[in-house]
Amino acid sequence: MAKYSIAPQRGFFPQPTYLIGTYKENGDPNFTLITWVTFCSSKPPMFVFASSGKKLTRELVEKNKMFSANLVTTEMTLLADHFGMNSGYSTNKVVDIGAAYSMGNVLKVPVLDLSPWAYECELVDVIPQGNGSLYVGEVKNIQVDEKIKDVSYGNLDLTTIDPLIYAPGNYYKISERLEKVGVSKQSE
Ligand SMILES: Cc1cc2nc3c(=O)[nH]c(=O)nc-3n(C[C@H](O)[C@H](O)[C@H](O)COP(=O)(O)O)c2cc1C
Repeated sequence: MAKYSIAPQRGFFPQPTYLIGTYKENGDPNFTLITWVTFCSSKPPMFVFASSGKKLTRELVEKNKMFSANLVTTEMTLLADHFGMNSGYSTNKVVDIGAAYSMGNVLKVPVLDLSPWAYECELVDVIPQGNGSLYVGEVKNIQVDEKIKDVSYGNLDLTTIDPLIYAPGNYYKISERLEKVGVSKQSE
């Protein structure tokens, strides 16, 4: 394959979408759309998100030392976009769009009713880099939609959960499952 070089930039890659939930000092909830997300440890499970620039979410996560991470589905696209296009500094985003939420089961973090898979995380580290930081949270609880029965490894059907996928400038949907992980070993 012939290739050419482009200037260093954030680049293009598919990313999951999560709404990071925090409480403001006055008790109002705030959610923000974050797509720079991964895990960095399985024992204990550690959820990591990256955030750059001035954001209320960064301030509140650092102050409260906890956050929720609510998986976004395609039916939540407008909600998620709203939380990504507006800042909690200037408005109450939750009231503006009328999003239903409740308190976490284990931590004092807001959890969105519409999200079928929500992590409750305790902040364990903040790693500054460039104009942003990595926020490392230990997963203390996961709230799962009752309709999702089998949560064992490899048995979650993503096409049923229908997560919203982001790649710079656009939102996407997952269309089909291709193969089980390990398919290359089975044919050896
Ligand atoms: C599609 C999309 C993806 C985004 N992903 C990130 C991200 O991964 N990290 C980040 O810091 N901001 C990201 N943002 C920007 C924040 O969501 C946005 O700045 C938000 O207004 C911050 O709100 P807050 O001040 O209430 O925290 C994203 C925005 C959009 C629309």
